[in-house]
Amino acid sequence: KVMKDISGLKDMEKKLEDVLGVSKAVVVSGDSDQYALVKNELGLACVREIERCLGAKNIIAVTGGSTLAAAAEMMHPLKKAHQDLLFVSARGGLGVKVENQANTICAKMAEKAEGRYHLLHVPDQLSDESYHSLIEEPSIHRVLQLVHGATIVVHGIGSAKTMAIRRHSGEEFLKRVDTEHAVAEAFGYFFDRTGRVIHKVQTIGLQWEDLFGARAVIAVAGGKSKAEAIEAYFKKGPDSVLITDEGAAQEILKNF
Ligand code: G3H
Repeated sequence: KVMKDISGLKDMEKKLEDVLGVSKAVVVSGDSDQYALVKNELGLACVREIERCLGAKNIIAVTGGSTLAAAAEMMHPLKKAHQDLLFVSARGGLGVKVENQANTICAKMAEKAEGRYHLLHVPDQLSDESYHSLIEEPSIHRVLQLVHGATIVVHGIGSAKTMAIRRHSGEEFLKRVDTEHAVAEAFGYFFDRTGRVIHKVQTIGLQWEDLFGARAVIAVAGGKSKAEAIEAYFKKGPDSVLITDEGAAQEILKNF
């Protein structure tokens, strides 16, 4: 299939902004489901957007996933003399590939951007008991204050089924994903087609409330297979900049 030229991509961006209600959409050419290199283009577009959002003092909270890992891969020096750049992990540790964990991505982004970083040294999913004791731990409390006060939040969006499997969810939860029609996942929250939260992982990391208020939110997700998830997430989602690819954009826009 012939890929859209630049004006075609610009046209898709405008339509996505209208359809999804995001303040800005960036569409890179190609489909990351088909070509792995397109993920690097998503990553590069994400780095450019972070750069655009920078001010004098910056706290940049980052989540995990392979798309954010690509953004870390594409990161380059951002620090200018008058800027303070602090990267902070928005999620704890997960039983997934180390290169896709928020802590790894956070440290790598900070090093390449020539900034500082703070990591979140806790498991991502916690029991009630651990949650309440860990949140009191001074070193953890400090990192959480930074996450809640982030000036820029960068996160991925996944399809619910894929993410439930990746998180090694039990049979019972996988059934709920089906019966409650969960289609999207982002930072441990699962959403149905209407954007309603049907489940949330008990985590001390990034919370839904942290996505609102005076901060820039950058969501990065591409590939035709994520079209439904992206559409659902933005039904009730916060004001964001969406970085996506042509594969996802075409699929979302075909219904409009
Ligand atoms: O929450 C969703 C995930 O961050 C998406 O992960 O970038 O590997 O598809 P992914």
